[in-house]
Amino acid sequence: MKTPIIQIKNMVRSYELGGETVMALREVSLDIYKGDFISIIGPSGSGKSTFMNMIGCLDRPDSGQYLLDGEEVGEMNDNKLASIRNEKIGFIFQNFNLLMKLTALENVELPLLYRGLGTKERRNIAYECLDKVGLRDRAQHLPNQLSGGQQQRVAIARALVGNPPILLADEPTGALDSKTSEEIMQVMKDLHKQGHTIILITHDLEVAQQASRIVRIQDGQLYENGGDWFGSHAIYQDGASEYQR
Ligand SMILES: Nc1ncnc2c1ncn2[C@@H]1O[C@H](COP(=O)(O)OP(=O)(O)OP(=O)(O)O)[C@@H](O)[C@H]1O
Ligand SMILES: [Mg+2]
Repeated sequence: MKTPIIQIKNMVRSYELGGETVMALREVSLDIYKGDFISIIGPSGSGKSTFMNMIGCLDRPDSGQYLLDGEEVGEMNDNKLASIRNEKIGFIFQNFNLLMKLTALENVELPLLYRGLGTKERRNIAYECLDKVGLRDRAQHLPNQLSGGQQQRVAIARALVGNPPILLADEPTGALDSKTSEEIMQVMKDLHKQGHTIILITHDLEVAQQASRIVRIQDGQLYENGGDWFGSHAIYQDGASEYQR
């Protein structure tokens, strides 16, 4: 049987605020496989950012299990968490998070600086990744000399450059107009076709529906079924559903 690249079981995360406990994730379970293109959709306050921080190894659960590529994340110290994050996950953010004083090429190269690669090798890999998003000819541009969609492409190239097994995108089209959003979603779909594993977090149904798996998050719980959005139902602890055929 295929082993999931991400295995989350009974994950709980709560916040203490003014003497009250907010249950942001309630015993969430989810398996994600290599090559999946999965979207996680939910309204404001449903737990998306909390869940993304967990998946992205930016936070640890109160309880439950998170196996990332076979390693238990809940037991890692901060250093280990940072290094697994670097190695396993390429982040794509709503606001691109590019360094404004660096060119597109330099932004893409940046993650490789920490990997001890020579200048030439870094440059070659960065160019390859800019190629993948169709932006080689903008390599020398600064972010403010690029359109929003182009900036997001640079950010996607940067996420790809360390060849991470997982791409994690948080509202990647949230800052873009609808036509540019479509272009960025096309890039994501192309990357999926090339075998990349993509997790996309959004509150936008149209965006979510372009993934091959859709998981809904509501009040800190996950719901999934075979794409029938309105007939969704809870995923139980074993990751299967009592309604599953
Ligand atoms: N640091 C915190 N302290 C206390 N409560 C928090 C904290 N962060 C989040 N919460 C609460 O946890 C719940 C989930 O929040 P989260 O930020 O994950 O939602 P979200 O789905 O990302 O929302 P949005 O779409 O508005 O970004 C909410 O009820 C929120 O108020
Ligand atoms: Mg959020």
